[in-house]
Parts: sequence; structure tokens; C-alpha cells
Amino acid sequence: MENATNNTEVHKGLEGVIAASTKIGYVDGQAGMLNYRGYDIKTLAEQSNYEEVSFLLLYGHLPTREEYNAYATKLRELSKPDEDVYDVIRKIGAKTHPMTTLRTAVSIFAASDKAESSENLKDQEEMAIKLIATLPTIVGAIHRVYSGKEIIAPDKNLGYAANFYYMSLGVRPDPMESKIMDTALILHADHGMNASTFSAMVTISTLADMYSSVTSAISTLKGGLHGGANERALKMIQSFGTPAGAESKLRDMLERKEKIMGFGHRVYKVYDPRAKILKQYADYITQKNDRNLYETANKVEEIMINTLGSKGIFPNVDFYSGMVYNAMGFKTEIFTPIFAVGRISGWVARALEYVSDNKLFRPKAQYTGERGPLKYVPIQER
Ligand code: ACO
Repeated sequence: MENATNNTEVHKGLEGVIAASTKIGYVDGQAGMLNYRGYDIKTLAEQSNYEEVSFLLLYGHLPTREEYNAYATKLRELSKPDEDVYDVIRKIGAKTHPMTTLRTAVSIFAASDKAESSENLKDQEEMAIKLIATLPTIVGAIHRVYSGKEIIAPDKNLGYAANFYYMSLGVRPDPMESKIMDTALILHADHGMNASTFSAMVTISTLADMYSSVTSAISTLKGGLHGGANERALKMIQSFGTPAGAESKLRDMLERKEKIMGFGHRVYKVYDPRAKILKQYADYITQKNDRNLYETANKVEEIMINTLGSKGIFPNVDFYSGMVYNAMGFKTEIFTPIFAVGRISGWVARALEYVSDNKLFRPKAQYTGERGPLKYVPIQER
């Protein structure tokens, strides 16, 4: 029975509710600090790569050289999905939002795994690794089809991020482009019990398989208040046109109390540390072209901080990520799937951590409806 206890305090959106313990990552929203397994995100962004960070999130320690080689090789070997996955992408990918195609492709991908419904923890871990290995290939293929181009198979000589760049854009990245792609994926790999991660955890807590868990997470990431904000932030900056355009249009939006995409965060009340790093790369990568876009964004940031900084509203990770991807040549609608490629390691690491000491998620709702019992009136008499 709902609400049978005396505890009637409602934590809307579960805000502030501690529902699990974790050793995977830590966010300090007041200090603007994020770490994965105790390693500062800035250090990882500068010195590590996605394969290593993914291993760290899953297994709790930085890999030895041997562990690293075995893990990176396994990711490479598993990077190509069955033809069925490519077929569905070809069939629906040109006209469907890439997040919808991604959700569908992951479901189809599950069908190629004989253990797809297994509850066994070792099988779940294998599914997790298969998903980490394949997601860049799937998203790369979705980008190609969505752009009206041929799908490109993985190049086994490239690292995770460089390969994703290559499969999506059809050219191999130079070292700096590869570093930026790698960093963007690292910065998105994990972030506390955010909505999509929570979704993944809720699903696996029912003892559903890892594919179902990741499909739930992808669906949750799609929304505009979560992963979808990067796409909307870029469109907004583009619509301002110039720094002067931003000045007038943004002030109008603020007057109308509209939410400005790419700003604010449920946890960070200071500058998002990931946005700080991405801003430097946005500055670098827009030197060749898109300079006006960067300068417009800078103007938006300045106005927002002057107006709402005192309320703890600063740029979040989505504000500059879209600009970086846009300058690389990615289509706007693929920004959220890129987020998923980064976040896959965090999703599966947290789902595995949770299910290894499982408790079915089942919060309560406060019932505010009619208590009754009302008299039932037959339909012909209503
Ligand atoms: N633009 C304008 N005003 C804002 C914004 C924004 N982006 N964000 C918050 N505010 C305002 C709120 O309306 C509120 O105003 P009030 O005091 O007059 O009521 C005040 O700032 C404080 O807001 P919070 O309570 O701190 O915001 P909340 O935690 O409820 O929301 C959220 C966080 C949903 C992320 C919100 O900031 C938002 O909608 N941002 C835009 C969407 C976005 O960029 N999402 C990406 C988040 S990061 C990620 O998912 C990876």
C-alpha cells in the first residue's frame, strides 16, 4: 500500500536522497570537483586515455601495462557488431533521431548474444565490455547513415577515441583531434547518480540484463534536461548569430524566464570542471573556423554569469561540448549519442557495482488523490 508509513516528506525528483553507496566516482558540486575512483578528472583528461579510464571505472584501479594491453585488445576485437545491427541502422537511421536509432540498435545488438538474458554476474560483465567495445562503432555508423554516407568498419590500428572519430567522420584524426576526442569521452564517462545512470541501475536492480539496463539509460539520456542539452545549447548559440545578437536575444529570454541550455546543474553550483576543460579545446578547435560561434558563446557565458552566477548558474559540460563536436564536423543530432559513447563505461560500471550487492529499487509516492471508496456509477448512467 502506498504511503502507509507516517513519513510524508516528499523528495521531488529524489533530490538529496541517498539511495546507494559507490566507490566509482565523486562529485563535489560546491568545490567544482569531480573524480573517478579517487583520480581527479583534470589529471585523467591530461594524462590518461579512454580505454584506461574505462578499465579504472570497471575494476577500481589503473591497469598495469599487461592489464591495459589485454583490455584494449579485447575492446578492439569486440568492436564490430553483427550485420543485423548495421541493417537496422541502414533501415531507420537516415530519418530517425540518432538517439532513437541508438536505442533500437542496442536492442538488436543484444540479440546476437546467446547469454543476453543471463542474470549471472560474469555474463553481465561480459555484456558490459561488449557494449563499451561496440558503442563507438554503432554511433559512428549512425552518424554516417544520418549524414547520407557509407558505414565505415573499425580500423583495428586506431585507439578507441580515434577510431570513433574515424568511423563517424571518414578521416583519421590528427594527434590533437584525437586527444580532444579522447578527452571529451573521458569527461563524459561518469557523473554520480545522474538520471541516465540511475535508470541503468533501476533496470539492473530488477535482474534484467545489461543490454536492457543500457537501453534504459540511453532513453533517459535523450531528454533536453540531461544529454539533449548539448544539441539545444549549440542551436541556441547559432541562432544568436553574433555576440551582439546574443546580447539582445539572451536578455529577452532571461526576461521571459526561459531556461538557457548548457547552464545550471543539479549538483554543481560553481563552474563545471568538465566545461572548463572543454572550453579550452573549443577555443583551440574554433581557431580555424567557427570563431564567431566561440565568441558568441563567450558573450553568452559572460551575460549568464553576471546575471545568474550569484544563484550558482554557470556553464555545464553541455555548453562547450557541442561547439567542439560541431567544429570537428559532427552533425548536431549526434551530440547526445557521443555523450552515450563516453558515458557507457560509467553506466555499466555502476550497474555492475549495484547489482553485485543488489536491492530492488522501489521508492514510494505520496498519494494525493481521492481516498474513497467512491460509488461506482455504470457507464450508461454517467
Ligand atoms: N537558465 C536560466 N535560469 C536557470 C537555469 C538556466 N539554465 N538553470 C537554473 N536556472 C534558475 C532556476 O530557474 C532557479 O531560478 P529561481 O531561483 O528564480 O527559481 C535558479 O536558477 C536555481 O536553479 P536550480 O534550482 O539550481 O536548478 P535545478 O537544480 O532545479 O535545475 C537543471 C538544474 C535542470 C540542469 C537546470 O539548470 C536546467 O534546466 N538547465 C538547462 C538544461 C541543461 O543545460 N541541462 C544539462 C545539465 S548537465 C547534464 O545533464 C550533463
